[in-house]
Amino acid sequence: MLTVAELPELQNRRSEKWSGHAPGVIASTVAEMDFDLAAPIARVLHDAIDRSDLGYAFEETEPLKEAFTGFASRRLGWTVDPDRITLAPEVLAGLIELCLALAPGGSIGFATSAYPPFITQIPQAGLRTVLLPLRPDGWFDLERLGAELRNGLKVLVLTNPHNPTGRVLPREELEQIAELCASYDAWVLADEIHAPLVLPGAKHVPWLEVSDAARACGFSLISASKAFNIAGLKAAQIVTAANRAQDVVRRLPYTAEQAGLLGVLAAEVAFSQCDDWLDAVLRQLDDNRAYLRDNLPDGITWTPPEATYVGWLDCRGLGLDEEPSDFFLRRAKVALAPGLDYDPAASGFVRLNFGTGPKLLEELVSRLHSSLE
Ligand SMILES: Cc1ncc(COP(=O)(O)O)c(C=O)c1O
Repeated sequence: MLTVAELPELQNRRSEKWSGHAPGVIASTVAEMDFDLAAPIARVLHDAIDRSDLGYAFEETEPLKEAFTGFASRRLGWTVDPDRITLAPEVLAGLIELCLALAPGGSIGFATSAYPPFITQIPQAGLRTVLLPLRPDGWFDLERLGAELRNGLKVLVLTNPHNPTGRVLPREELEQIAELCASYDAWVLADEIHAPLVLPGAKHVPWLEVSDAARACGFSLISASKAFNIAGLKAAQIVTAANRAQDVVRRLPYTAEQAGLLGVLAAEVAFSQCDDWLDAVLRQLDDNRAYLRDNLPDGITWTPPEATYVGWLDCRGLGLDEEPSDFFLRRAKVALAPGLDYDPAASGFVRLNFGTGPKLLEELVSRLHSSLE
């Protein structure tokens, strides 16, 4: 059963999405959902607190591995070897550790628009970024990737499903990326954190199921954090297929102790006992996507996402003389994520988070309309 908090309760939340806004603002920024936790997750967290069981996570997380392999097989058609799953605190931390291990002092390529920490944190880790703008049709720009590989690029971070566009890359495109990267002996870090959130009409092909080339050069980074709305709990998985990739993971300097025990416990039940809850979330997100398709104000265009709960909105048709995120915050009391955070070329875009209930989404859309009158 899926329930969603009302605005006053949401405003009491202490998470990033709901913090730091003026009273009455609807937050539609950070990728957190407004639904109440799945009951098995709430239970396992309450039980751990009742036991005062808040110590370090144990590195040998066999029950989590078992839960994840079951989930991967059942929901993603992906056969995972449990011995090739390594605990990490987060997808982002795992990605950065891998980038540092694979290209010390070097360059990391990724498509733009992109999850903002790729743009800010990869340089903070002492690495250069190589931005690979998506083609106007949303496809990966293989020619540009080829040129960068010829220039010596050795690591590609590939977000699939993509954030912020919500596009799910088809197998054919993934195969081409894998062939190209493998032919230059470059690595692919597949960020598949949104894979459990593929919406009706699309199908996710896990990177390590794409081809021999993908398995040879790839890592998958995935977590229960987005799909089950537990990003603050800190537990993610790095999965490999090739021995040489597993050797890299084994040598990573962080330890599984950086993952949170509550995250491990929650992920275990998320992956094994929460399919019904996740199905209800996907139904609600599908409805929300349809609602937005029919009700966004004229002048805003988008390609409805195939996965996750974010819409990448092109507001340039509104003819505003300021960034739309500033306009809508001031005039509509709706906080949207500024496009420029995702892509230095995305002036006039915003990312809308529709991981909420129908009532709040209708209120949000109605505020957008009123602000434009
Ligand atoms: C593409 C992508 N990667 C990584 C993350 C962050 O994941 P984590 O909290 O596990 O680092 C997000 C969060 O929204 C994301 O969208």
